[in-house]
Amino acid sequence: MRTACLVLLIGVLAWAAQAQADQDALTQEQINKLLQHGPWPLRVEADPSNRVSGNPGAIELGRTLFFDPKLSGSGNMACSTCHHPGRGWTDKLPRAFGIKRLDRNTQSLFNVRFNRWFGWDGQNDNLWAQSIRPIINPDEMHATPKHVVQVLGKDQNISGQYQDVFGAAPGEGTPEQTLANVGKALAAFQETIVTARTPFDAFRDGLANNDRKAIAAYPASARRGAALFFGRGNCTFCHTGPLFTNGEFQDAGVPYFIEPGRVDKGRFAGIAKLKSSAFTLAGKHTDDPAKTGAWKVRGVKPLHRNFGEFRVPSLRNLTKTAPYMHDGSLATLEDVVRHYSQIDVERLHADGTRILAPLHLNKNETQDLVNFLESLSTE
Ligand code: HEC
Ligand code: HEC
Repeated sequence: MRTACLVLLIGVLAWAAQAQADQDALTQEQINKLLQHGPWPLRVEADPSNRVSGNPGAIELGRTLFFDPKLSGSGNMACSTCHHPGRGWTDKLPRAFGIKRLDRNTQSLFNVRFNRWFGWDGQNDNLWAQSIRPIINPDEMHATPKHVVQVLGKDQNISGQYQDVFGAAPGEGTPEQTLANVGKALAAFQETIVTARTPFDAFRDGLANNDRKAIAAYPASARRGAALFFGRGNCTFCHTGPLFTNGEFQDAGVPYFIEPGRVDKGRFAGIAKLKSSAFTLAGKHTDDPAKTGAWKVRGVKPLHRNFGEFRVPSLRNLTKTAPYMHDGSLATLEDVVRHYSQIDVERLHADGTRILAPLHLNKNETQDLVNFLESLSTE
């Protein structure tokens, strides 16, 4: 009799454990979507538009320039002033501060080499052009191509490094050519900023290889968060692939008023800037004779729907890059999840309303989704 009771008790306990596991489990459809978010790290290739991409001398020169305030007009602002390596390659401010407060949040440089467009509004189609932008922007480093030629020429160390990498002294050719080269060395350095594997990657590979130990090591709460991300939340619609972004532009319901009466037009204005830039993949400064990728800038046209759209951010290493959104208006991941939970569909484009709807998550579900998002970061 006693043995029968014991067997029954063990049976009930096993059933309860199984029921809990089932609740934490993902459906096959969710698993199929999840598997597409890896493997990580991605394979890297040299950038054909940048002849010094991957060149060790250029990486070193780029590193020197990145941390050196000399490039700026005032002589006291470097790339690292806003993109600080100890602060997730950003500045922890809601909106960047240059010569005055800027309109947008400083983007992190994690995995920047994998972008298809650059900036919140995609105003550039390559990394070296995006690296030139702050140097000549009057509200940021406020320099001119001529100033850059002068300061490089005066510093023996830098001009020696530059000569080794580009086979010419700074200032040979036009000042714009020197500026483009500076952008290319800065790009070579930034290409090295690639994030390591995360708890999510171990879970994902565990599912791919049916490795029970790896699957079991992933916390139950993060797994329930994954079920929301890949299921009911439909987050994966935009935050897709190994980088957790489709690389394109969407309206996620973040207000685009910078202050009363002044709006950030987002992608709409970004396309206009892209079209007028001398530093695109279709322009004369690319090193790729085949002009690979130039179809993107040639083909893109501003549409009404682009108004107030911003680039879908990657979600890797999020825990290191708060605050969030193009205007830095959300301080924590809880705030972001609450934003999606209560999203105001009235604010969205017709496209957005089809995809996003308020999720009305309860407290536990909110925590689960936050835990999932945290598992996309390195420890
Ligand atoms: C005053 C602060 C500030 C300085 C200085 C600064 N940046 Fe930025 N950076 C930003 C902001 C703000 C953005 C977002 C730009 C936008 O979309 O409007 C950004 C975006 C970027 C991006 C795009 C990232 C992406 O994912 O698309 C790159 C690359 C970048 N900066 C590189 C640099 C380099 C290289 C330097 C130095 C030459 C530099 N930045 C100097 C504030 C700064
Ligand atoms: C319709 C496309 C779309 C969907 C669906 C979507 N997002 Fe986003 N997400 C975006 C865009 C666009 C931004 C940037 C918005 C801005 O700054 O104006 C963003 C920003 C974010 C950020 C901030 C990242 C940063 O670095 O600032 C997080 C976190 C995030 N989304 C998580 C989620 C989660 C969780 C879900 C599901 C509940 C989700 N997203 C669904 C498009 C989407």
